[in-house]
Order: sequence, then structure tokens, then C-alpha cells
Amino acid sequence: MTPFLIDTDPGIDDALALLFAWNSPEIRVEAITTVAGNVSLDAASTNLLRLLALRRPDPRPVVAAGAAGPLARALTTATRYHGEDGLGDLPDWPAVGRLPRSPDAVAVILEAARRHRGDLTIVALGPLTNLALALKADAAVVGRVGRIVAMGGAIDVPGNVTPTAEFNMSVDPEAAHRVLAAGLPLEIVPLDATRQAVLPRAGMRATLARGPGPLASRIQGFSERGFRIAHSDGAQGMALHDPLAVGLAVDPSLGKWEAVRLAIGPDGETLRTSGPPNCRVAKVVESDRFIRLFLDRLCPATRPHGTSS
Ligand code: RIB
Ligand code: CA
Repeated sequence: MTPFLIDTDPGIDDALALLFAWNSPEIRVEAITTVAGNVSLDAASTNLLRLLALRRPDPRPVVAAGAAGPLARALTTATRYHGEDGLGDLPDWPAVGRLPRSPDAVAVILEAARRHRGDLTIVALGPLTNLALALKADAAVVGRVGRIVAMGGAIDVPGNVTPTAEFNMSVDPEAAHRVLAAGLPLEIVPLDATRQAVLPRAGMRATLARGPGPLASRIQGFSERGFRIAHSDGAQGMALHDPLAVGLAVDPSLGKWEAVRLAIGPDGETLRTSGPPNCRVAKVVESDRFIRLFLDRLCPATRPHGTSS
């Protein structure tokens, strides 16, 4: 099994991505770090603890909190879509504690990179602030990891924050610039790809109906907001941005990739530029195969070992 570290700003689609990852037998989620993005760092960390208490993955990952804001600008959140608490503002989550201040996300990222080197896959589902801070702390260690798969950017399609910028890149363009300039084995999963992975509300409902219980009810509850907002915006369903990044990290053959040199614009635009490639970008996705894989693993009818009944 491939060791994974997931950096995340949960967020509805982040939560779906974590549940998908926890049911993927090809990988072992060794560590999860939180970053401010969709919501504040505290809210993102609370949501991670909520999901851990709900799903009780085995093994339980090392968890750590990271950056409370971008490197060089004020935090812009996405609570209109995700809700004030980041998970659809459900009223009845059981209380959880807080993530410890130490070790922080940078320490956990560096420790995982030292331990696993080329075997480690890092999946970044939020702004790239923690990754940029880890590079600042020890670029040589971060550079040893096998793969870094980051959801973000809008290469040949419109953005979702401005006509040209995607949310994760627009929250922290300075961090994105540093990550792209670091010579890392970087794989970008942009809106070009994630907008091909749209889940209809009926597909989610049918899947959850096959495995009724606390987990299915909770997924139904927090994902409903995502479907409601998507439909109000005229979409046919929820674009599975972060779950697709996990899917392509687990099985790169789900996508067709293009080696590209990207530059980051002042508002987080991901711009094609001349020169040797600094990443590869997922451009075409086998959407049906991905959606089937995602739904098979999100909330299986039979409970995997160590999960809530
Ligand atoms: O643009 C989509 C990205 O922004 C996803 O990671 C979503 O969770 C939001 O953070
Ligand atoms: Ca996210």
C-alpha cells in the first residue's frame, strides 16, 4: 500500500475525498494536515476531527494543524458554498476536541517525507500554504517525495472565483508560485478535469440508500448543501473536485495527462508559459469509471474493519 499524506481544508468535497481515500485499499492514509481555505483553520481542524470520529479509519492517521492563512494576503473563505462551519452547517455534530499546536503540519509533512521518501504521495486539497512552508523549512526533504498531487487551477477553462482563477490557487498565489518553482514531482488536477467529474444528486442518494446508517446519514446531510448550491448555480450535480484529485492519486490511469509549464498570475491564475515543464496536468478524465469507483468506496454497504456500525 502506498503511504499518503493529505493536506486539506474541509470543506464538503474535501470530506468526500477523505472518505473515498479511507476506503481505498491501494493506499494507507498515514497523515492528514489542515490548512485555512474553504473555512478558517480552526473550522477545518474541527471538521477533520468530526470526520475521524464519524468514520474511525484504521489506521488512525497522524493529524496536525497548519497555516491559519495565506503566506502574504488575507484569507478568503468559501463559506457561501460549504456553509459557515464548512460541512453544511448541520446542527447535531457530536462535540470534538482540538488539534494539538505541536507537531504542526510542516513538522508532520517533513517527518512523513523523511520516513517514506519516494514512496510517499502528498495530496493537496486546499491552498498550497502548508506545502510552501514545508519547502521553506526543508526543500531538500520535500523534494524527495514520490508524487505531489494538487487539486487547483483552471488551465483552458474559466475559473470559479474569477473568470480566470480557481479557488485554491486564488487563496494563496504566493504559495502556489513557490510550489511550482520548487522542481517537485507535481501533478495538477485543475477545473479542466474536475468539471468532468460531476455527480448527480440521484447517484449519491442511490449509493447512500444501499448502506443506511450513521455514516450514510451524515454524508447525505452535509453533501446536500453542495448539491443545492450546485443546482442553484445551474449545474447538473456536484463537481467532485477533491475526490477526483484523490482518485487520480490512487489511479493515474483515470486521466490523460499533459506536461506543462505553468506560471501563477497575481490573482492565482494558472497560465501556460514557455520553458521546460514544471508539472503535469490532468486534462481528460474517464468520468464514468471514476464516478463508479468513488461511489463504490464512499460508503460501502458492508462496513470495512474499524468503522462505525
Ligand atoms: O476550486 C475547488 C477547490 O476549492 C476544492 O478544493 C474545494 O474544496 C475548494 O477548496
Ligand atoms: Ca478543498
